[in-house]
Amino acid sequence: MLILLLAATARDAAAQSGIRDYQNHCAECHGLGGRGDGPTCLTIPMNPPPNDLTQMAKNNGGKFPFDEVVESVDGRKNIPSHARLQMPFWGTTLQKPGKEFTPESDAEVKKRIESMARYVESIQQK
Ligand code: HEC
Repeated sequence: MLILLLAATARDAAAQSGIRDYQNHCAECHGLGGRGDGPTCLTIPMNPPPNDLTQMAKNNGGKFPFDEVVESVDGRKNIPSHARLQMPFWGTTLQKPGKEFTPESDAEVKKRIESMARYVESIQQK
């Protein structure tokens, strides 16, 4: 029982961190509801524009592409090709100051990105 409770608390904490991180780091471009209408992209038009994050499951045959979202938010795989020019590479941006790229910091970044991806998953439109 206690274990279940602790697990639920950990899950809630992760969900909270996903929402908070999304609001702090993503909403300016993608919009709070994920529709790609954040204030930054309305003042400075981006080409391509930020994705409508609520359509990712729909555009993937109804299945939310969790791993791809985590990878593309992290962004480090794209660095060599510079395939992505406008969205920050969150895998580097969110590193712990002073402890960048240590296993500890990397694990923390991974957790935060996964929590944000869960949040994005929660706002999918059918
Ligand atoms: C400075 C504006 C900006 C911010 C901040 C931003 N994005 Fe993006 N994002 C974009 C743009 C523009 C694209 C479209 C492709 C590109 O140019 O990178 C995009 C694309 C994406 C994609 C789709 C990538 C794909 O493979 O189709 C996802 C998922 C995404 N963003 C999630 C996030 C999350 C989560 C955050 C917060 C950690 C975030 N974005 C913060 C601008 C932004």
